[in-house]
Amino acid sequence: MAVRRILRMGHPLLRQVSRRLEPGDLSDPALRGLLDDMVDTLHDYGGIGLAAPQIGESIRLAIIEIPGGPTRYGDLAPMPLTVFVNPQVNVIDAATAGYWEGCLSVPGLRGFVERPQHVRVQYQDLQGAEHAIELQGFPATVLQHEFDHLDGRLFVDRMDDMSLLVFEKEYERYHS
Ligand code: NI
Repeated sequence: MAVRRILRMGHPLLRQVSRRLEPGDLSDPALRGLLDDMVDTLHDYGGIGLAAPQIGESIRLAIIEIPGGPTRYGDLAPMPLTVFVNPQVNVIDAATAGYWEGCLSVPGLRGFVERPQHVRVQYQDLQGAEHAIELQGFPATVLQHEFDHLDGRLFVDRMDDMSLLVFEKEYERYHS
């Protein structure tokens, strides 16, 4: 287990489309080691989500862990640490909700992004079993943000108004 360095915007790997994980990948013990590194890295950096490409692995794997309780996004229902293999997002309600997003690969910045607010996510777990969940509001945004990484997209690509790309200190002072 180890904390890995997180690639930052500008690294070409963050712009690649990652490959799907096949059954043979899931049974490879190396994948468990990579996942342990991802969890250690997420906790060390203090994030709520991490996609494998952010630590240099171009595969369709992401983890999410949303702490519950009152936050700047409102009173959140927690999502325990969840592993998403080959996730796919289907929009249920295209009406958007906007949130200030940050990203461990875009350190120091926040940007206001509007995304579909109600989605269904199909994914596999580490054993390859299929799952589907429906999400609304902030968790729907978190998952869409993370899974964008698997297609080489960053939150800044989703912004409509670049005047709402700001540094964290200015975010706290003028926008929170
Ligand atoms: Ni991100």
